[in-house]
Amino acid sequence: MLDDLHQDYLRTMDIDIWVRRELIVEHVAPEMPVRSSPPPVAVKPQVKPVIQPATPTPTKPVQVDHIGWDELRQEVAKCTACPLHQSRTQTVFGVGNPNADILLIGEAPGADEDRKGEPFVGRAGQLLNKMLYAIQLQREDIFIANILKCRPPDNRNPTAEEKLCCTPFLKRQIALIQPKVIIALGRVAATFLLDNDKAMGALRNQSRKQTLSYADTGVRVLATYHPAYLLRSNLQKRKAWEDLQLIKQIITEQGL
Ligand code: URA
Repeated sequence: MLDDLHQDYLRTMDIDIWVRRELIVEHVAPEMPVRSSPPPVAVKPQVKPVIQPATPTPTKPVQVDHIGWDELRQEVAKCTACPLHQSRTQTVFGVGNPNADILLIGEAPGADEDRKGEPFVGRAGQLLNKMLYAIQLQREDIFIANILKCRPPDNRNPTAEEKLCCTPFLKRQIALIQPKVIIALGRVAATFLLDNDKAMGALRNQSRKQTLSYADTGVRVLATYHPAYLLRSNLQKRKAWEDLQLIKQIITEQGL
């Protein structure tokens, strides 16, 4: 049998674990005592609740251009600029070192992140931790944020309206952190940061070959595959590994 750590690794990478049939101990349910049926209960006719149409929320980006870190965190927590505030459990501001040289940007919180209030804590997050570990980085060394601060229902892609409302927060985070390198995880982050609508493969190649900068700031953007995508696509894991090595090289060269 595989040890726990090995099994955990395979599970995280979404690789099926095969176990010989004779090693599986069948679980036999204990016999339940037979109960006499309860006396009939009078059933009240159901009154259907009247569902009121949802009041449309005005969508308006918030002005945060000149505020500091703590105020920005508060603005995010109370934001109602787009309809996502109605379905969130909590906002997900970001985590890590606000003075970090390396900023990592994902797409949007998923169910686990919405519950915990922290980015990348689900299965994709576990893989991300391993990717960082592979280049001697930990979450505390960098800052991790998302394009959206609220979870889109059913993990769908963010809409243009949601991005419009939420990206002022991210722009302010970037301005305050002043990172030296930004790593875009997946196409949603890469297209926003590079202001370019190309496919992920093209953005990745371009950002490896040329020094692409975020909004003419001179801050280098590297685009790589999103860990959630890597969990589904084994083929791209080799390319993600090449990206990690390039990130490591830049960190070493720049003494970050
Ligand atoms: N995917 C993302 O892009 N961000 C998270 O925080 C979690 C999953």
